[in-house]
Amino acid sequence: MKVLVLGSGGREHALVWKLRQSPRISQLYCAPGNGGIADEAECLAADLQNLDSITALAARLQPDLTVVGPELPLTLGVVDEFTRRGWPAFGPTRAAAQLESSKSFAKEFLQRHHIPTAAFAICDSIEEVRAALGHFHAPVVVKADGLAAGKGVVIAKSKEEAASVAAEMLSGKMLGEAGARVVLEECLTGDELSFLVFSDGERVAPLVAAQDHKRVGDGDTGPNTGGMGAYSTADIVDEQMRDWLIHHIAQPVVAGMKTEGAEFKGVLYCGLMMTALGPMVLEFNCRFGDPETQPILMRLESDLSDALEASIEGRVSEGDFKWSQDASVCVVMSSGGYPGTYEVGKRIDGLEEAGAIEGVKVFHAGTSKRDGVHYTAGGRVLGVTARGLDLETAVARAYAACAKISFDGAHYRKDIAGRALKK
Ligand code: AMP
Ligand code: GLY
Repeated sequence: MKVLVLGSGGREHALVWKLRQSPRISQLYCAPGNGGIADEAECLAADLQNLDSITALAARLQPDLTVVGPELPLTLGVVDEFTRRGWPAFGPTRAAAQLESSKSFAKEFLQRHHIPTAAFAICDSIEEVRAALGHFHAPVVVKADGLAAGKGVVIAKSKEEAASVAAEMLSGKMLGEAGARVVLEECLTGDELSFLVFSDGERVAPLVAAQDHKRVGDGDTGPNTGGMGAYSTADIVDEQMRDWLIHHIAQPVVAGMKTEGAEFKGVLYCGLMMTALGPMVLEFNCRFGDPETQPILMRLESDLSDALEASIEGRVSEGDFKWSQDASVCVVMSSGGYPGTYEVGKRIDGLEEAGAIEGVKVFHAGTSKRDGVHYTAGGRVLGVTARGLDLETAVARAYAACAKISFDGAHYRKDIAGRALKK
């Protein structure tokens, strides 16, 4: 079987690493890939912002299965196009991907289907923002409606700050078109949880849950990022909570999308806040999470390609997944300055020593490789991932590996899974 993975981040490296373990797969390609993926799959050039470029590549390869990593190609309609051409592709159609590509669509959908989420207002002008703010208490969450790579959410401490952030988003200066509409939300508190399910448009099967760490600094300080680390354990949610999340969130979303004529196939990522009043939806992603996929796939013992095909072919079942009871954790090493401006092209040392530590796998994100040497090439550079019999062991291994790796300006959080360890 010939498999194509689209993307170039740590998530895609984890997908490639897992798929490579499948005896069913004879040829594995990744476009465009990165410096680490190149060691495990054949990397090919493609512009993922351009549907024609992706289609031309697939026409040449004729893949038996394509897995789409990032959201952008999904919102461009890559699955619609591949399906039309008879190439099996895992992921939602462009219409179903609106759950991620438009926060206002997602919020109104949640409201229509009585799925718990924070109170909100959708605004197209600063006048609407000012009027709506009358109904909120500070802090207020201000979100750009469109895709912003995890950088379109600001938690404003006061209503004045909320108005000024919203004005900047609406002006187009901050995030371009993505901010032409904004969503104001009540600020929720609690532990966050990433709950991902596979769907075939009708049925859902959960993956093991994970927790992301969105802020750039220790103790959840500083601006939001794409994610600075994540962990997964056997008891991150108990069975009762898992069933609740399936029956009150994941299943109703998939059923609702079907009744609205936009069947959701692929992986539905429910970003949740576990509040005192119960779980509430913060956001949906219509793809695997990054970095959650790294620790999640480290715990997967069954063949990922079977589960991907089950989604495409309409036969998703919980039996598609066999999970290890081990704990796993991913610590993201980023370029200094991320999520703001940063420099690239820094030589990375110590990768081999880090990867030699028991239970450790170093996934590459923003890296490139020249003459056998790895260099930084993005904001999030590496996802240093480890598993162990318990969370303490996994965390100790991941940080021991981080300590072996160096590059100019390297930054990583020292407290990934810290709150869970304290409990
Ligand atoms: P989103 O892209 O909507 O998930 O937002 C990114 C991050 O912003 C989330 O993972 C949360 O950490 C935070 N966030 C989003 N919405 C809220 C909210 N209503 N209350 C508190 N934090 C939020
Ligand atoms: N880790 C959050 C995301 O993938 O959007």
